[in-house]
Amino acid sequence: MKGVILAGGTGTRLYPLTRLINKHLLPVGKHPMIAYGLDRLHQAGIEDIMIVMGTHSAGLYTEFLGSGKEYGVKLTYRIQEKAGGIAEALNLAKGFVTPGEKFVVLLGDNLFSDDLKPYVERYMAQPAGTARVLLKEVDDARRYGVPVFDPANPERIAHIEEKPSQPKTSYCVTGIYMYDDHVFNFIAGISPSARGELEITDVNNHYAAAGSLEYDILQNYWTDAGTFESLQEAAVRMKGQLP
Ligand code: DAU
Repeated sequence: MKGVILAGGTGTRLYPLTRLINKHLLPVGKHPMIAYGLDRLHQAGIEDIMIVMGTHSAGLYTEFLGSGKEYGVKLTYRIQEKAGGIAEALNLAKGFVTPGEKFVVLLGDNLFSDDLKPYVERYMAQPAGTARVLLKEVDDARRYGVPVFDPANPERIAHIEEKPSQPKTSYCVTGIYMYDDHVFNFIAGISPSARGELEITDVNNHYAAAGSLEYDILQNYWTDAGTFESLQEAAVRMKGQLP
């Protein structure tokens, strides 16, 4: 199984810091943000990892992480020229993931303390062409993708609403996704949203419509460290997670 960390994007909510350095290299305690995602994948037994990044700070990634040896992983780097959306960034992993292979995708600004192994194991038992997402109960679901459960089968997600003004549940779809190479066919079938991006929620809604989107709920700390408040909190909550 492979892993992909998406670390492109502009990080405008963290200006002016992100004018200097890409968001995923900002310090969270003693380590740059991206190190935590690498550690979570490594802990789940995933060692072959692609990092998708923008052109901004690209050299710093290789300078700091090198081949990935220090983290016990093997890194491949790919550049997303412009921030065209999460699904566009994910599409750059085409070719890295071989036909029939399953993989885990992390949004680089998602920090969490759950062990991914049990979730990955459940996904490995799912049929080809299906997907699994991880949810978390949150205070303000309006900031996220929000799942609406299938009333006939609450184990399944009927659809996801991206940043709804009136969320139907108090859960968010975190930036932890599991797919196989079928995902690239779904990405090919979506169009840019009103904000001009290829949205991961549109991709996930293809799976939901086909009744093939399953989920688990994270049990421990999770945050999207894309704002100053969540970044500061993450530094405290992630303390001790990495040596
Ligand atoms: O954190 C979870 C949320 O992430 C989900 O609940 C939403 O459904 C999902 O759309 C996403 O929402 P955000 O508005 O927080 O996404 P954002 O644009 O901040 O991008 C999140 C990460 O994705 C960021 O760390 C870098 C990566 N990214 C983003 C874009 C737009 C890329 O690699 N390339 C891109 O073009």
